[in-house]
Amino acid sequence: MIAIYPGSFDPITFGHLDIIKRGSQLFDQVVVAVLRNPNKSPLFTVQERIEQIRLSVVGLPNVEIDSFAGLTVDYAKLRKAKVLLRGLRVLSDFEKELQMAHTNKTLSDEIETVFLATSNEFSFLSSSVVKEIARFGGSVDHLVPQHVALEIYRCYAQTYPESTQNMNNPAIHLNQPKVDLQSETVHQQEV
Ligand code: PNS
Repeated sequence: MIAIYPGSFDPITFGHLDIIKRGSQLFDQVVVAVLRNPNKSPLFTVQERIEQIRLSVVGLPNVEIDSFAGLTVDYAKLRKAKVLLRGLRVLSDFEKELQMAHTNKTLSDEIETVFLATSNEFSFLSSSVVKEIARFGGSVDHLVPQHVALEIYRCYAQTYPESTQNMNNPAIHLNQPKVDLQSETVHQQEV
């Protein structure tokens, strides 16, 4: 059975990876589907997010990464998937997630939403929290894979150089090259 794990993943966190790993043990295939959302100003482009996820799931052969636009249920039908996989962290997630699951059910009766309770240690974790910490100069090494953390540091060093003055993150100390805004997407904050 194929499960779609849809989301923004801006950026992917250890919380997302917890759901992907556990989902990959339950389903034949998990498709991590990055939403191409023209209404949002993400920190990373869809292509950057796909690459970040790809490097994070090395060693999980039944996990695929893709992007989609439009309705998730339409994408699921296209991929012949019967399940939408979502993680539930805290009670406040429940309301939004249940509403989304019910909405999706009205759009397609054959597709079920399956919720996994996010492991306790990641119950506080979200992409927004990661971006907020990094924006104000904190370390996110314990929240996202190393390659993602480095990209976040580079991005904020370029966008908010003043926030990196007293930063305790390794990218700054290692003198990593900054993102060239001429050739890259302009990274905007979305906290
Ligand atoms: O990571 P996110 O931002 O919580 O993911 C939300 C997502 C992408 C799963 C949701 O916004 C979505 O499914 N968007 C696609 C549009 C859609 O299908 N809407 C109907 C269900 S509310």
